[in-house]
Amino acid sequence: MATENILEIKNLSKSYNDSQGTNNVISDMNLTLKEGDFLSILGPSGCGKTTLIRCICGFEKYQGEIFVEGEKVTKPGTDRIMVFQSFDQLYPWKTVRGNIEFPLKKQGIKDKAELDRIVKKQLELIGLSGYEDYYPHQLSGGMKQRVAIARGLALRPKIILMDEPFAALDAMTRNKLQRELHKIAENEHLTVIFITHNIQEALVLGTRVMLMSSHGEVKIDMENPIPKPVTPDSPGYGELWRKFEDAL
Ligand SMILES: Nc1ncnc2c1ncn2[C@@H]1O[C@H](COP(=O)(O)OP(=O)(O)OP(=O)(O)O)[C@@H](O)[C@H]1O
Ligand SMILES: [Mg+2]
Repeated sequence: MATENILEIKNLSKSYNDSQGTNNVISDMNLTLKEGDFLSILGPSGCGKTTLIRCICGFEKYQGEIFVEGEKVTKPGTDRIMVFQSFDQLYPWKTVRGNIEFPLKKQGIKDKAELDRIVKKQLELIGLSGYEDYYPHQLSGGMKQRVAIARGLALRPKIILMDEPFAALDAMTRNKLQRELHKIAENEHLTVIFITHNIQEALVLGTRVMLMSSHGEVKIDMENPIPKPVTPDSPGYGELWRKFEDAL
């Protein structure tokens, strides 16, 4: 299937069955993503944001169709990597280098010089050069999130799916990481889906901003009209912020 869309979601439905009955979390959702899109997704708690990206990652069975570069998603793969909110997503028994190298080795990269080169490049990108031999418990929360991002980027995924990756950080670190992620995404031409509860974060990072309501209904999906870098002083910021605040 020839396509310029890196991601195509057609009539996606996902429900869970439990003792209370069937919970239709996502019903008939459609969504496309182009290469280089940075899609921020906002939405109330429980509306199905995490479920959506778990489906895209291949962690969930679903109804409908999800294509990544024309290939149907049936299982997890390193073309889609997920970064979570939790500071515990690194292997605690491996160093920073070990954490980044592990999935690369699983992918069959065995050459030491090649592994070294990739680790060095990723740590430079993410601002952690010199921390190769640190263990996760020796890092701050922000540093751990940087390593988790570096580990994901090292695999050169087609799509990066981030589920509130900065939510547990203090405001200053969060702002700093937002700026850095924005720079990396732009320079490396990343395609990202970024879930957040924070409207400011959605507007600062997103080239596109989406608001999901219950059952995966897309209430707003718009190009972000504010030129980067977006700050609260950017013309149009306040108006756009209120639009999402009201809709939420
Ligand atoms: N494994 C599961 N089994 C049963 N129900 C689930 C499962 N995972 C999610 N759900 C249900 O699906 C709904 C959506 O959950 P989801 O985690 O996708 O929401 P969310 O939008 O990410 O919320 P939040 O903003 O709080 O993270 C919730 O009602 C939740 O209880
Ligand atoms: Mg969630």
